[in-house]
Amino acid sequence: MSNHTILAEKIKEIARRKNAIILAHNYELPEVQDVADLTGDSLALSIQASETDADIIVFAGVHFMAEAASIVCPDKKVLFPVPDAGCAMADMLTPEELIKKKEELAGVPVVTYVNSTAEVKALSDICCTSANAIQVVKWTGADEVLMTPDRNLARWVARHTDQKIHYWDGYCPVHDNLTVNAVKEAKKAHPNALLLAHPECPMEVLELADAVRSTSGMLVFASKSDAEEFIIATENGLLHQLRKQNPDKKFYPASADMICHDMKKTTLEHILAALEREVPVVKVPEETRIKALRAVQRMMDVPRDAG
Ligand code: 13P
Ligand code: SF4
Repeated sequence: MSNHTILAEKIKEIARRKNAIILAHNYELPEVQDVADLTGDSLALSIQASETDADIIVFAGVHFMAEAASIVCPDKKVLFPVPDAGCAMADMLTPEELIKKKEELAGVPVVTYVNSTAEVKALSDICCTSANAIQVVKWTGADEVLMTPDRNLARWVARHTDQKIHYWDGYCPVHDNLTVNAVKEAKKAHPNALLLAHPECPMEVLELADAVRSTSGMLVFASKSDAEEFIIATENGLLHQLRKQNPDKKFYPASADMICHDMKKTTLEHILAALEREVPVVKVPEETRIKALRAVQRMMDVPRDAG
């Protein structure tokens, strides 16, 4: 038996005994995705966290995702195995900066991407994810909105609405670094492949894409499509899930450099240790949580097909 199999069995046994559920983002290491009870994008994982009757949630992802679980599940213990697994984009907007920006744009509703800290969510009117950003912005019905913290997602949304979009100049280094040249090289190498891109990529890349989707959106697109080959412009951890769910199709990374090192920090050993010791815990302070929950709840109440 391989080391991964032994660890996975131990993890599953303790999780069963303690009524714990393991959630893993689509960018996590393959063996971590495989041990999880549920994998998904940020929206799916928030919804699943809110619906579970487990006593403990083990979150394999980055810090804002564990915070999101704590926001929607205050009565559950949220274990976050590697406390310094962060998101560079979420760190690009502080609460102080957002307060200042809100003063400049008095009265303009703030739509905040879930890739943000709980404190920033608490200062926002509504959250969005890459899976629902266009619907959420339209749903506000406002003539202008401020989108934070991702400029690329904001520019993408601006293409799909007449509303005026102000945006914070944050970005994901993993996606923002993808160049048109790299994409053109990948297309040249795989001329029959469709290009699926995440909205965190720069606009010049999105303009070349056959479809722009969240990570789970790419999984749905690839399995429903008649095409047999796909170039994937997002963090390369998604390739594991794409290949697992579509063994007869071929998936190529748009660039081998699309690695989020924070998403690779969590190992099976970390998950086992967290489950055994029931630490480290992420718990959003109640005052912040209530305000952040309002923004997250509003997002969850937006019909999936709105807009
Ligand atoms: P998804 O919500 O599409 O999974 O994206 C999360 C993320 O961190 C993208 O970099
Ligand atoms: Fe944050 Fe980018 Fe990593 Fe996603 S891929 S968690 S946006 S740094």
